[in-house]
Amino acid sequence: MSDPSPAGSASTLASGEGAVEQPPAIELHDVVKRYRGGVLALDHLDLVIAKQEFVAISGPSGCGKSTLLHLIAALDAPTSGTVLVNGHDLAKMHDLSYFRRREVGLVFQLHDLLPRISVLANVEIVMYGTHRSSRGRHQRANELLEEVDLGGRGSRLPTQLSGGERQRVAIARALANEPGILLADEPTGNLDAESARRIMELFGRVRNDGVTVVMVTHDEALAAMADRTDRIEVGRIVSSTRNR
Ligand SMILES: Nc1ncnc2c1ncn2[C@@H]1O[C@H](COP(=O)(O)OP(=O)(O)OP(=O)(O)O)[C@@H](O)[C@H]1O
Ligand SMILES: [Mg+2]
Repeated sequence: MSDPSPAGSASTLASGEGAVEQPPAIELHDVVKRYRGGVLALDHLDLVIAKQEFVAISGPSGCGKSTLLHLIAALDAPTSGTVLVNGHDLAKMHDLSYFRRREVGLVFQLHDLLPRISVLANVEIVMYGTHRSSRGRHQRANELLEEVDLGGRGSRLPTQLSGGERQRVAIARALANEPGILLADEPTGNLDAESARRIMELFGRVRNDGVTVVMVTHDEALAAMADRTDRIEVGRIVSSTRNR
């Protein structure tokens, strides 16, 4: 078993005088998550992910992968332990709704598009209340749909798309507000091998643009396309493999 937190605790962006110590994008320390009813989903889990790292999380069904993403996205709180994002303890953060809307982009395991509005509107809607004008929102939504190979499908309803296409809309939507962290739960689950590979390449480009990407997948070959693969078993990280 290798070190589960190879990224260390901080990285230095510039060298020499005036160097800026950057906290990791994501840190979990001794995190326990016990659901009501007694299920222990995370069992004293430690995890460090550096800024701009692309990490795949793998592991068997029920081992705690989705729970982990939900805690990082502040959709749920740990029973004990700490979750820090960009050095900030989520338990002490005042405006969690801003954090959820703007700082993390989340692609859920069961995609949750609004069924009665178009695909384009599903992407535009998360940009309401931001600095973007109506035209700016429209333009960005179209660009993102192009990016996930859905250019020309914007006017359809989600029910008129395949499962894999809907998953790609969910990815476009998660990227709309330029989050610093993208969390994706089995984003390639419904995709054929070629489409899944394209999504991995997209995530690689997103990472190159400065975003930290954490992706859950059962697919070992896809996991190997990330910078690092961490494996969870029954609520703990059991191995961490650097792929590049
Ligand atoms: N809201 C909940 N209430 C009670 N138990 C839950 C809840 N959500 C998840 N669990 C349990 O916690 C454990 C971890 O669930 P989690 O959804 O994190 O697994 P997972 O690794 O994402 O699995 P999969 O690969 O099937 O999506 C499981 O035993 C699950 O049954
Ligand atoms: Mg899951």
